[in-house]
Amino acid sequence: MTRSSEVKLPEEVPAHVAIIMDGNGRWARKRGLPRLAGHRAGVENLRRILEASAEFGIKYLTIYAFSTENWERPAAEVRGLINILEDVIDQELETLHQNGVQLRHLGRLERLGTELQEKVRHAIELTNNNQQLILNVAWNYGGRDEIVHAIQRMIEDGLKPEDVTEERVSEYLYTSKCPDPDLIIRTSGEMRVSNFLIWQGAYSEWYVTPTYWPEFGPDELLKALHEYAQRERRYGRISDPIKTN
Ligand code: FPP
Repeated sequence: MTRSSEVKLPEEVPAHVAIIMDGNGRWARKRGLPRLAGHRAGVENLRRILEASAEFGIKYLTIYAFSTENWERPAAEVRGLINILEDVIDQELETLHQNGVQLRHLGRLERLGTELQEKVRHAIELTNNNQQLILNVAWNYGGRDEIVHAIQRMIEDGLKPEDVTEERVSEYLYTSKCPDPDLIIRTSGEMRVSNFLIWQGAYSEWYVTPTYWPEFGPDELLKALHEYAQRERRYGRISDPIKTN
C-alpha cells in the first residue's frame, strides 16, 4: 500500500476496533441490485479496511459478519452469506496468512456444515502465530448467547459463586484472549447495539456514520480514529477530581 506517507494518524490509535458492517442491503437496493450483491460489495470493502487497519496500527479488528438473529432472514440470503464465508476462506486465506493476519472466530460453528466447520478451524490453526493484525470474525454470534454459553461453561467447570468475578466472566467469553474494544463503529446510521459485544463494549466509544458499509473506505476509518482521539474516556469517573474540591 502506498498511502503511508500521506496518512496523518492521530497520536493515539485504538488498539481494538469493532465494526457493525451495516447497510449492505440498502446499498444494493439503491442500485437496483439483489441484496447479496450488497454483501459481496461488503467483502470487497472489508479487504480495503483490513489493509488500512494494519497500516494505521490497529492491533485487533472485530467484524460482525452474521448474528444469531440473521438465521431469520430469507433462506436464500442466509445461504448466500454462508457461501460468502466459504469463498472468503477459500480465496483469501493464503493472502491473509502472508500478511500476518491471525484469524479468530467469535460465536458458534454448530449450524455450519462439517466441511465448512473444518475450513474455519484450519484457518484459525494456520494463522495462529500471526501478529500483524488479529481479526475476530463474529459469525453466528450474539452477545446474549455468548454470556449464556459462558455461564454454562462456568457451571460445567464447577465454579463457586465467589469465583465468579468480572475478570473470570471475561475469560469465559469468546473474546477471552482479547482486550475490550476501544472503539465500536456502526455504518448506515442505525443507533442500536444489536446484540454485539454487549459485555465487552461496556465502556467502548461509539462512532456511527450514515455511510453504508460498502462505501466506508479507509478515509472514513481514519476520520473515525481522529474523532476517537478527541474523546475523553472516563470509565464512569470524572475528568479532573481536583476541581471538585
Ligand atoms: C448488514 O447489512 C450486514 C450483514 C448482516 C452481513 C455482513 C457481512 C459481510 C459484509 C460479509 C463479510 C463476511 C465474512 C465472512 C468476512 P444489512 O444486510 O442488514 O443491510 P440493510 O440494513 O441495509 O438491509
